[in-house]
Amino acid sequence: MTNYVLGIETSCDDTSAAVVDREGNVRSSIIISQNEIHNRFGGVYPEFASRAHIFNIIPTVEEALAKANVGLDDIEAIGVTRGPGLVGSLLVGLNTASALGVGWSKPVYGVNHLRGHLRSVELEKQPVDYPAIILLVSGGHTFLAYMQNRNDIRLLGTTRDDSVGETYDKVGRMLGLDFPAGPLVDRMAKTGHPTIKFPRPLIDEELDFSFSGLKSAVFRYIQSGEPIVAEDVAASFVKTIMDVLMTKCDRAIQHNPCASLVIVGGVAASPQLREEARKLCDQHGINLCLPPLKWSTDNAAMIALATWDYIENGIQLPPIPQMRLPISEY
Ligand code: KG4
Ligand code: ZN
Repeated sequence: MTNYVLGIETSCDDTSAAVVDREGNVRSSIIISQNEIHNRFGGVYPEFASRAHIFNIIPTVEEALAKANVGLDDIEAIGVTRGPGLVGSLLVGLNTASALGVGWSKPVYGVNHLRGHLRSVELEKQPVDYPAIILLVSGGHTFLAYMQNRNDIRLLGTTRDDSVGETYDKVGRMLGLDFPAGPLVDRMAKTGHPTIKFPRPLIDEELDFSFSGLKSAVFRYIQSGEPIVAEDVAASFVKTIMDVLMTKCDRAIQHNPCASLVIVGGVAASPQLREEARKLCDQHGINLCLPPLKWSTDNAAMIALATWDYIENGIQLPPIPQMRLPISEY
């Protein structure tokens, strides 16, 4: 019996491999973080990221297989992120998967990283009730989508500039915090008061987002020369982000009949976002689906679970890196 997919994820700065069954049970998941390498740059340094992936990928795959305690006969296929992401980073995962596929005589499936995030919510959890509104908020992406079912995804709105995670990271850097700053900004915000009024770009426009103006407003406030309370800046910033995200989710729910709101991507780990989304879903009487914290940020388990959709639909795309890849594509 072939019961498992080996997932490989190297789209950005984490090297990850995982073994997952069709129902989303995770036999093993290994994630090697590169935060220490990129911290001093305040963001991901692409060339260093791909070099670290080269160094880490084989031990990561070996450890995932050993921890899963399954034989090669149990592996149905290899699923690997084909995009979107950094081209050098993607290449390491894709080349490794291709070589292993040839060596082990296993099929290799190139997977859309964003579809991986969508499936992260079903890892070790109940399946999502469709139709669903999806809010994806990560370091690389921010969008709202409507999912009629697992294979029918329609984009509703997207950011016109920065993503939410990127905005968190940049504001965190202005406040002297390490990269990735998202969790640190959230923590700092909890001890401050949201007394500063920052702009809420595109708040009255349908479902697109824009965050670069907010980022600049925080920068100007910090540079103004007035004494600042960093905790209050963090609290005001987080409140502004939550206002924008919840206003857009509310609008999307009102305009599109849905049974669930699904929030995925690194920022889905935010306790403030989880709390606000809970209130919104209670108001509308719909389900809130959030990934367990450890599956919110990038990991190969979500890629492995998404691979089963490709297997079931017979979609086997060439292992060629795609720096840009919309959610509507496989
Ligand atoms: O999904 P992810 O791991 O990588 C991408 O695909 O981009 O998301 C990483 C992003 C980073 O910008 C990080 O600061 C943010 O997610 N993040 C958070 C939290 N945890 C991670 N942002 C806000 N609050 C958090 N608790
Ligand atoms: Zn991601």
